[in-house]
Amino acid sequence: MTPNKKINPASSARGSELASKFTVSLKFDKRLYKQDIEVSIAHAKMLGNEKIIPLNDSKKIISGLKIIKKEIEARNFKWDNKLEDIHMNLESRLYELIGDNAGKLHTAKSRNDQIATDIRLWLKDACNNLIDHCKNLQSTLVKLAEENINTIMPGYTHLQRAQPVSLAHHFLAYFEMFNRDIERLKNVFDSCDVMPLGSGALSGVPYKINREYLAKELGFKKISSNSIDAVSDRDFIVEFILCNAICMTHLSRLSEEIIIWSTDEFNFIELSDEYTSGSSIMPQKRNPDFSELIRGKTGRVYGALIGILSVLKGLPLSYNRDLQEDKEGVFDSYDTTISCLQSANGILLNMKINAKQMEISTEKGFILATDIADYLTKKGLPFRDSHIIMTNLSNHCKKNRKNLSDISIEEYKSISTFFDDDIKNINASYSIKSKDIIGGTAPNQIKYAIKNSKNLINKKSRK
Ligand code: ARG
Repeated sequence: MTPNKKINPASSARGSELASKFTVSLKFDKRLYKQDIEVSIAHAKMLGNEKIIPLNDSKKIISGLKIIKKEIEARNFKWDNKLEDIHMNLESRLYELIGDNAGKLHTAKSRNDQIATDIRLWLKDACNNLIDHCKNLQSTLVKLAEENINTIMPGYTHLQRAQPVSLAHHFLAYFEMFNRDIERLKNVFDSCDVMPLGSGALSGVPYKINREYLAKELGFKKISSNSIDAVSDRDFIVEFILCNAICMTHLSRLSEEIIIWSTDEFNFIELSDEYTSGSSIMPQKRNPDFSELIRGKTGRVYGALIGILSVLKGLPLSYNRDLQEDKEGVFDSYDTTISCLQSANGILLNMKINAKQMEISTEKGFILATDIADYLTKKGLPFRDSHIIMTNLSNHCKKNRKNLSDISIEEYKSISTFFDDDIKNINASYSIKSKDIIGGTAPNQIKYAIKNSKNLINKKSRK
């Protein structure tokens, strides 16, 4: 007797309609249709080649699967929400198209090894797309750095003005962060590049399948070496979401700075209208909503990371249905990170930099105090003594409401005999030029860093 092929009794929920709805994953796993079909086609080919099923049947299965792919892409495919997942929807349609031979596709393959293979394939593409988006953002950061080698701004520690830096140096700090994100994504790509197919439900399959052929067809570098682990392992998903979470941390820090810099108090940048919105009540407001949303969306990506770790903790081997809960976090963290990378890029490309205001901010206060202490040290005073002199001097200035720039040469000389007329040469641009050390903020070093950064961008890093 031919069973009702629309619903595979072995794998659909057996309870009430409500109970079945609870188990359905179609609304999110339909996103894996391309990978699922790719895996099924490779599997059918292999079954035919190895004479596990007749070659003719394998060809019928493959042509049916190709039709299904076209139907989905032309949006003609009729999804059936009563069939719990992507595999069953495709299988059911294959029965309609080619009849009972459709059932042969399931030889030597379980949904447990198939879903693990599908998601690994999907993630490999996702890593590459994320790398591309990180690189776009890096190109923008390098462009801004090139335009701002000589733009002076206060560098901060504890959000207090600390030492002058070049704005280019600040932008390139973010370049480094996204570069580490790219390296991490390449490692995650490698973690995903292992093929579970052939593990069956958990113990392997009792057919002489050709796993090397399958791996080659599907573009996997390695083949999993333990079937129990292969259907249970989701470490690569933890790694993927962690990468997104770290990348979002970087984006969130950048956003926070953009928000601070665009306030009237700082006035370092002006955001373009495209990336701000008005207030419904306060007509003067231009709110940095895009940056705020990036900062806010970081939370949901962290949530996905905790989500998958919690799903895995305490899960006995091997496959358990809990593992179905891996996907929404993967998709959401990916979509969120991609859209935030794009938005951050747009914000940076369209903002106006108020270089004058940045420079003015380095002129007030005591931002040159360390440079002057270094000046004294270079004249022969031990640095600790120089430090004490500068602490006293800045206290004196604060008490008398003076900036360091208001102190005359005579005043300096009266404080220490190590001061000379050349003390007046010390300004923000002197300070920046003096940091001429690899990784420092001097213009020479920045030019060198820009050259290296461009080389890194041009290096092929898509895996
Ligand atoms: N939908 C499942 C998942 O995402 C795959 C199917 C395996 N289901 C099963 N009952 N063995 O993990």
